[in-house]
Amino acid sequence: MNILIIGSGAREHAIAIALHRSPQQPHLYCCGTSTNPGIKQMAHDYWTGDITDVTTITKLAKEWQISLAIIGPEAPLEKGLADALWQSAIPTIGPKKSLARIETSKSFARELMQKNKIPGLPRYHVFDSMNGVENFLQSLGEGNYVVKANGLMGGKGVRVAGDHLHSIADAISFCKEIFAAKQTVVIEEKFIGQEFSFMCFCDGEHIVPMPLVQDHKRAFVDDKGPNTGGMGSYSDANHSLPFLTPKDWEDAWQMNQAVYHALQAECGEKYIGVLYGSFIATRDGVSVIEFNARFGDPEALNVLTILESDFVAICQAMVTGSLIKEQVKFASDATVCKYAVPQGYPDAPVKSVQIEICAVKNKSCLYLSAVDTMDGKIYLTGSRTAAYVGVANSLPAAEEIAEKEIRGVSGPLFHREDIGTERLIQHRVDEMRRLRGND
Ligand code: GLY
Repeated sequence: MNILIIGSGAREHAIAIALHRSPQQPHLYCCGTSTNPGIKQMAHDYWTGDITDVTTITKLAKEWQISLAIIGPEAPLEKGLADALWQSAIPTIGPKKSLARIETSKSFARELMQKNKIPGLPRYHVFDSMNGVENFLQSLGEGNYVVKANGLMGGKGVRVAGDHLHSIADAISFCKEIFAAKQTVVIEEKFIGQEFSFMCFCDGEHIVPMPLVQDHKRAFVDDKGPNTGGMGSYSDANHSLPFLTPKDWEDAWQMNQAVYHALQAECGEKYIGVLYGSFIATRDGVSVIEFNARFGDPEALNVLTILESDFVAICQAMVTGSLIKEQVKFASDATVCKYAVPQGYPDAPVKSVQIEICAVKNKSCLYLSAVDTMDGKIYLTGSRTAAYVGVANSLPAAEEIAEKEIRGVSGPLFHREDIGTERLIQHRVDEMRRLRGND
């Protein structure tokens, strides 16, 4: 069986490893933006280029006689790669273009929730000009807004009051930047609380939950510094998170299911792939930050590392509408993922410098990301470099493994030493207790 992976980051490396350990021994193929040596060593063939080039990738998939494709990032979904592959009779994990709007259009996602009375919606407004922007910001109140570009902006399309926007004037100038980039704007009320990621496998009929994960967006220790693609993440052995109640889990699960069904009804298409709800637990319950149409990165690394079931069989069930929850088993282990990133990341990252991974003792949980290879050597390409996932029966033990091993990736790099530590997690639990008025 020939399986094509689209994308070449750590998320796709984790997907490749999960497929590679299947007893079905699939032949892996990859279309990536650079040569990820971790994926390359498992792949029968590997193409590098523009992974949003739908025509070229579909042609290659046919040449390679691909029987299943998995799309990692959102950009090819937005371009309709899943539609083109299905049209060529290649079953694909990753929703078609109209369904992917749940991620690629912030206004579509909010309007779908509103139309279907799905809870967790903030006060929001969509703008196609500056008319009314200032009034709406004023009505939300200073420090209480989030400004989002309606479409994808390479991870730079969301700014939050307090974190990146320090006045209504800042918010207005960001809106102008978005309009200059020919996008519309969504302004929302800001939520205060703890964020978490809740991903589900979807087959167009059924929806099956994965363990919950918490990502860390800020670059530096103690959640300081600029926003990044995610510096690391953790999941707990009970598949929930230490600051959540069983009701929080249930409420988020209900919202994921409601959005899944509403989205399919709205588009008249089956959603086949991963639906990833990004939620926030607040004083008043769980709310929705956004939805994504793919595995999270780094969240995929946490969950796929502890997936005990055959991932190829899960994918086959997803594309045939026959997925049952008993088919999806995760180990009852805690995981801590830490990313090593180039010095200067995210604003002015070091690039094209060689790194070494030989000091990493157990490479089976090392996932390579924004790297390229030349003459057998590994070079930085400027984004997140490599992640290590520590797995153990408790969070402190998983953190110790991840911390020790990520230090084995050497070069002009840094990582967040605090991710997964008892101190940081306890701080999150205390914050949540304080918000809920339990102190
Ligand atoms: N963890 C953030 C993302 O994948 O979008």
